[in-house]
Amino acid sequence: MENIKFEKDGNIGIITISRPKALNALNFKTLVELNEVLDQVEKDEEIYVLLIRGDGEKAFVAGADIAEMKDMNPKEAREFSIIGNKVFRRIENLRIPTIAVINGYALGGGCELALSCDIRIASENAKLGQPEVGLGITPGFGGTQRLSRVVGLAKAKELIFTGDMIDANEAFKIGLVNRVVKKEELMDEALNMAKKIASNAPFAISVAKASINRGYQADIDTALMYEVEVFAQCFATEDQKDAMTAFLEKRKIEKFKN
Ligand code: HXC
Repeated sequence: MENIKFEKDGNIGIITISRPKALNALNFKTLVELNEVLDQVEKDEEIYVLLIRGDGEKAFVAGADIAEMKDMNPKEAREFSIIGNKVFRRIENLRIPTIAVINGYALGGGCELALSCDIRIASENAKLGQPEVGLGITPGFGGTQRLSRVVGLAKAKELIFTGDMIDANEAFKIGLVNRVVKKEELMDEALNMAKKIASNAPFAISVAKASINRGYQADIDTALMYEVEVFAQCFATEDQKDAMTAFLEKRKIEKFKN
């Protein structure tokens, strides 16, 4: 692959978007490659958590590729938006938790990529925003939908209508990022969180994620039915029996299996 790197650190998968000369801007090829690497992640049962980061010092992802979009007609723009939305929805629905590791600019499609992840950790120098309206377009990889779900309608409208970039601390205040850390500590912080998640029961985490995501779109009664269902499913796993037995025997469980 040209624009995507993939590596593993134990049970953690790490995707790096790598077009540093264009601040990792997402062109069509990068989206296709991102889709391909997700095939690999989905098949690999040894990956418990996925990190997504940007290559280089300056950017997570500075948006969709403006040079590539400039001469698009509406049909091509629709196709571009559809493929990005498909890939980001796949990330959102992955069986494992995902963490966006935001090491600089996360603008436009970059902010939208981060929004498709479950958790966002940013370095102090990160800048986030949806500057699309300044380019005569709207967010097109989920930003008009996911941003309001994360920060609320009023803030999402403010950010999208003004196109303002906000710094990491402001992003933390409005709930757009979960944590802000020093630049040099960013990857360690993300890996530590990933390892902590990976040390818990994978099946329970996976169905908790599905229940949160599906329930968020549903009415409360339907949503609570999802919760009842996944809670019950956990009792068919060895992990539930082993972990509860270990607790009652006052010992720590070695490693979860399911
Ligand atoms: C293509 C980009 C790019 C982008 C940066 N570059 N962002 N190329 N698409 N989104 C390129 C620049 O052209 C430049 O190339 C190189 O990366 C370095 O960028 P500079 O602008 O020189 O860096 P700097 O002055 O530090 O400014 C950083 C920046 C600025 C503030 C992030 O690059 C910027 O505003 N970028 C665009 C951000 C943006 O508007 N994103 C939203 C795009 S729309 P050269 O060859 O000159 O070195 C979008 C829509 C999503 O994302 C939905 C689609 C369906």
